Amino acid sequence: MTASGLSTGSAIKGAHAMLDAAGVPTAERDAVSLAAYALGTTPDAVGAHSEVPVPAEFWALVDRRVAREPVELIVGASYFCGRRFLVEPGVFVPKPETEELVARVVERLRALPTATPRVVDLCTGSGVVAITVAAEVPGATVTGVDLSGQACDLAVRNAATAEVKVAFECCDVATALPELDGLVDVVIANPPYIPVGRAIGMPEVRDHDPALALWGGPDGLDVVRAVERTARRLLAPGGWLFLEHGPYQVQAVLAMFGDAAWSQVADHETVDDAVLVARRAEPERPEPERPDHDPNRIIREQ
Ligand SMILES: C[S@@+](CC[C@H](N)C(=O)[O-])C[C@H]1O[C@@H](n2cnc3c(N)ncnc32)[C@H](O)[C@@H]1O
Repeated sequence: MTASGLSTGSAIKGAHAMLDAAGVPTAERDAVSLAAYALGTTPDAVGAHSEVPVPAEFWALVDRRVAREPVELIVGASYFCGRRFLVEPGVFVPKPETEELVARVVERLRALPTATPRVVDLCTGSGVVAITVAAEVPGATVTGVDLSGQACDLAVRNAATAEVKVAFECCDVATALPELDGLVDVVIANPPYIPVGRAIGMPEVRDHDPALALWGGPDGLDVVRAVERTARRLLAPGGWLFLEHGPYQVQAVLAMFGDAAWSQVADHETVDDAVLVARRAEPERPEPERPDHDPNRIIREQ
């Protein structure tokens, strides 16, 4: 579609209507984001350009969004917890609901007795969770882990752009970071957890997020189980796990954390998902030594 000479303000109104008709849930915001991208400015500054003729390429961007390509992949960036991150096809696009997971983690980290906690983000993807935590808690030492080499490369670039220090390891959750066993204060994970065969309603997710980031085996919990085993191994006594999973998996996930290795286990609903919080149990203290009350005992003094 072309509409030469149309002002940016009018073009945004037209694009908003087109995106609404295509069922895009964030139609107005996306129309503004696409206009900002076409103009080479930020969404906040678009208002100042409303009388400027809209660039011709704007309509090609709108057509892509009408076809339900994620707006983040069209503009190459995603805003997460107020920071801008690079995104690209082949790597999971960060979702707003994961911001709640991060808020819980940051709150917990700030309440810990140590100002220099060790944090591991399993299934780090583009690194948004690890990098946000490192930026919000500057004393933290953060490591991100992902099986996808492409995701790890992108995460490294995102950390450089954000100017925070995060280490990224490209490996399987199941075998990750044995050198940190028993030393970690907080483990975070947003693993793939959709059961194979379950319908995904959002075309943006179904058609554009990588399979490795979505599917978690027959019950969706294959990688979640690996996360539980790895967190059990990595966490120091009293350390915390924060795990995002599907709202339809609450009972199954709670059951996974039912043994004595875990305490203070709770599951919290978020807008679209659920977050399990669990604490690695302290080892049982040995019984204090009892004084010897044997009345027949002879104490020899020199
Ligand atoms: C749902 S995405 C989450 C990405 C990121 N943490 C976020 O919230 O935007 C899940 C990530 O787990 C990674 N992954 C899948 N299976 C894995 C495994 N066995 N070990 C490590 N990473 C894995 C995928 O490559 C993907 O980047």
